[in-house]
Amino acid sequence: MSCGRLHVKIKRVCARKRSRDFLETRLILVRKEGRGGGRGAGSTKCLLSRRSSSTMAEHGAVEFCSDSEDLFGDYDSILEDTSILAKLEEVEQHERLRSENLQSFRTLQPSADPMSQSPKGPLTDSVFHELEDKVFEDLPSSQLQFQEQIQDRAKKSKLQVRNKTSTPSHTEAAGETNSEDGSRRHSKARRSVADLLKKTMLGNAVTPVSVSRTALLKEAVVSEEISVAMQAMETISAETPDLGPFFGLPSKVKELMHKLRGIQKLYDWQEACLNLECVQQRRNLIYSLPTSGGKTLVAEILILRELLCRRKDCLFILPYISLVQEKVRGLATFGLELDFMVEEYAGSKGKFPPVKRRNKRSLYIATIEKAHSLVNSLIESSRLDHLGLLVVDELHMLGDGSRGAVIEMTLAKVRHMSKATQIIGMSATLGNIKDLQTFLGAENYTNDFRPVQLKEYVKLNDTIYEVDPKEENCFRFSRMLNFKYSSSMQKIDPDHIIALVTEVIPLHSCLVFCPTKKNCENVAGMICKYLKEDFLQHREAEKAVLLQELKAGGNGSMCPVLRRTVPYGVAYHHSGLTAEERKLVEEAYSRGVLCLLACTSTLAAGINLPARRVILRSPYVATDFLKRSQYKQMVGRAGRAGIDTIGESILILQEKDRSMAKELVCAPMESCYSNLMQDDGKGILSLILSLIGLNISSSLQQVEQFLRGTLLFVQQQQLCVERSLWDTVQRCVATLQEKELITNTATHSPSLQVTRLGRATYKGSVDLSYCSVLYKDLLKGLEGLQLSSHLHLVYLVTPYDLVPQCNPDWMVYFRQFTLLSASEQKMSAAVGVPESFVARKAAGQTVKKSVDLVAVKRMYLSLVLFSLLRDTNVWAVADRFQLSRGFVQTLLSAASTFCCCVLHFTEELEELWPFKALLLELTRRLSYCVKAELIPLMEVAGVLEFRAKQLYNAGYRTLTHLANADPAVLCGTLEHLYQKQANLMVASAKMLLNEKAAALQEEVDELLTLPADLPQQQHQELLLL
Ligand SMILES: Nc1ncnc2c1ncn2[C@@H]1O[C@H](COP(=O)(O)OP(=O)(O)OP(=O)(O)O)[C@@H](O)[C@H]1O
Ligand SMILES: [Mg+2]
Repeated sequence: MSCGRLHVKIKRVCARKRSRDFLETRLILVRKEGRGGGRGAGSTKCLLSRRSSSTMAEHGAVEFCSDSEDLFGDYDSILEDTSILAKLEEVEQHERLRSENLQSFRTLQPSADPMSQSPKGPLTDSVFHELEDKVFEDLPSSQLQFQEQIQDRAKKSKLQVRNKTSTPSHTEAAGETNSEDGSRRHSKARRSVADLLKKTMLGNAVTPVSVSRTALLKEAVVSEEISVAMQAMETISAETPDLGPFFGLPSKVKELMHKLRGIQKLYDWQEACLNLECVQQRRNLIYSLPTSGGKTLVAEILILRELLCRRKDCLFILPYISLVQEKVRGLATFGLELDFMVEEYAGSKGKFPPVKRRNKRSLYIATIEKAHSLVNSLIESSRLDHLGLLVVDELHMLGDGSRGAVIEMTLAKVRHMSKATQIIGMSATLGNIKDLQTFLGAENYTNDFRPVQLKEYVKLNDTIYEVDPKEENCFRFSRMLNFKYSSSMQKIDPDHIIALVTEVIPLHSCLVFCPTKKNCENVAGMICKYLKEDFLQHREAEKAVLLQELKAGGNGSMCPVLRRTVPYGVAYHHSGLTAEERKLVEEAYSRGVLCLLACTSTLAAGINLPARRVILRSPYVATDFLKRSQYKQMVGRAGRAGIDTIGESILILQEKDRSMAKELVCAPMESCYSNLMQDDGKGILSLILSLIGLNISSSLQQVEQFLRGTLLFVQQQQLCVERSLWDTVQRCVATLQEKELITNTATHSPSLQVTRLGRATYKGSVDLSYCSVLYKDLLKGLEGLQLSSHLHLVYLVTPYDLVPQCNPDWMVYFRQFTLLSASEQKMSAAVGVPESFVARKAAGQTVKKSVDLVAVKRMYLSLVLFSLLRDTNVWAVADRFQLSRGFVQTLLSAASTFCCCVLHFTEELEELWPFKALLLELTRRLSYCVKAELIPLMEVAGVLEFRAKQLYNAGYRTLTHLANADPAVLCGTLEHLYQKQANLMVASAKMLLNEKAAALQEEVDELLTLPADLPQQQHQELLLL
């Protein structure tokens, strides 16, 4: 690379809110020097920069870079890898080689373009908006064009920079001295790196910017508002953050709500709730409103207030991975605009403990299980007091089996350990709020508000009745149905579903809830069979696009039912669809391209897909009669705010169900009860184990004291708990001792301690019933670990709890077995699955020799996963093993989550050390199960394989490419990508990249900060240098 071609560009990263970004080092992306040399030794550079108060004009420009792609691409391993020092040294080496040329290089650039030297304003959005001086030459040409435009604009705008440094003061002192003394600079790696940082920060200070004056002013107003709110809070009351123009928040939040959500004004109840005294004073609160009442917005405003005004982290708990991802995408733009992190904790994603951030606050959005692990890790690292607010959506899930127990443990721990953490719970369906209030020490707000009125009906024979609890019968006559059905149609559709749906579709939308998955497919097919040809013409082109997308998403395969129903605007929706199909169907339904979905009850609890009319095909889920809460969730989908003036639900009844249905529609809401004692006390056992492990309780008395703060204690009498709490504690402790998870030494203090196995179990969130067998399996695995393929490792992380659901097809089993290599077969025999057994079963012979059936079935599931890793095609594998593609995907997702648990488990047990490195990579492979090159793109919340492939083929190959993409250009380049989707995708990518870069910066800061306990003499020496 000739000096003449060198472009001296010093990137300045997110400079907004500089006043608070005091003393912070930055690890910065800089321009790459060309496509061909993108990965070459000297062609790409890493720039470790530190802001400095010196003027950049005096120093000229500096460039010290390394491959930003590598840094970000392998982020996890770098974080956990001390080799970052080695990397720094590499940079150092590079810098040394260049230093001799530096002077001549400067003379070559004496009067660098004043534009490129113009200082940057303090209020740009983020590093990723600043494309003007960082052209990724390997970006697609459309993108390059876009960036050129940006650069042009940049030249028109020059702004003064504020003089702030962002590095710990010790380092700064050392760094400044170094810059004055060139010879010393070469003598100590650390010092010279600090010098590097300083120089780069100098460069940052003069990088050009393309921020309009209006934007600047707006940003200034935001900062002003935030600081006014913060000052006022300090002077008046630390607990009263409601001081700004928009519920204590800058008016920019209001603008964003309008721009991104279309919300112009808060509903009256939302305002009233936010103005409650208990909310003002940050007391705990449970609020309960009907579905679609707008509960989330209140929680989000409170979260923003906590993040921006109180500068505390927040945790938002949602029940499903898909909801977490949707929320991460939805809030990423808020994070970018308002300068906080949005971090995803779902599936195998999320770091424990979370990355420490000195200058930014984090919003953790987590599933129930991940939230529990997160809280554990915060307690363990004494950081729980950083958590200002915890929000639980769908609080009624406290009563939902083992998941409910996990919510209860999480809340009880936060209540016990951090009095200052505010807890907010919301739900549409709560029968016994009083119990929950006592448990959480919370106040309650309830309102019946629904933005769209809901009319509930039931259908019995040919009559429609309106539900009216005031009527003696609960049902009031509404209308007679008089549909003209042919006899064959009457036979196929005796419940008149077709007639009921055609009253609303295709102009309005309709959801038909069905009792089973198979029934969803049948109902969708049946409806289409009798729909008129006219339906085919409605939004025909968009439906054709959807079909293409479904086909592409299935790598050329398409569900035959969907192929038939989609042209009519109809689809089915249940867990048997792949994630890709589900997403496409949901999006098409939201846009009105599909007008009817035949779905199971999971749709009601998951994604927000309202309809003009909701039909409940029968009052059952599988063979169980509906619960009141399930019914309410489903009918609550009726009526789309802002679109419909009314929503209606129709429950189809048979005469035999009449009396039970009255209960269902008119009874008060069910109560929710503690699940800690369910399943032989699995919940309470694992709670006590973690209490001891986290040093929250170290004696029987302390355990009992803690349990007094649980929902179980509040409901002791209602649950008819036979034993006293003290008895329960003693029994649980004895059981944990028997399992060798804890020791109890009455004579020592602390008397209760976890064993190594106990620690590994709670750290890995491993089910207590499997922890011993997992340990044994892993130990045995080490004896002859077969690493010529993934099979052995995959076997070790195949979830035990899915084994009972597995019924091998022996012929398929045998065929797959014969395809294994000799060493794989040997390994299989070693874990207890000999070929002879499988062969005999396939031949239909009885096998006398006893084998471990758990191992045999587990191996079968492992073969499915093994095939998936090789083929990365869910459809092909499902076909090969004669399984539904939904099950295959569930298996994959469960395996990746369990693999992550096993990884944490092995980290605690020294003897299992080899697994650490192996499982880290396997978790990643299982989490995405796509070709390796697509993984960086799929790390972005909501980007699935199909989209990742599209992006990759269009030249957006890394997270950095996607984060720097212009959504408008993306829409023009990628087929069938809508502006809104593009906006959300790019915002999520920016957030993820910000998050990774900030994590690295934190690490650099940590490395370069002198230890406070450094022996005195050395300390002084360094300061003198
Ligand atoms: N003030 C408002 N003005 C207009 N629309 C609003 C307002 N508040 C919320 N919404 C919209 O109403 C819809 C439903 O809101 P939300 O999802 O918060 O309901 P919910 O109460 O959580 O319901 P569920 O119990 O079904 O989860 C969302 O699309 C949301 O954007
Ligand atoms: Mg909600």
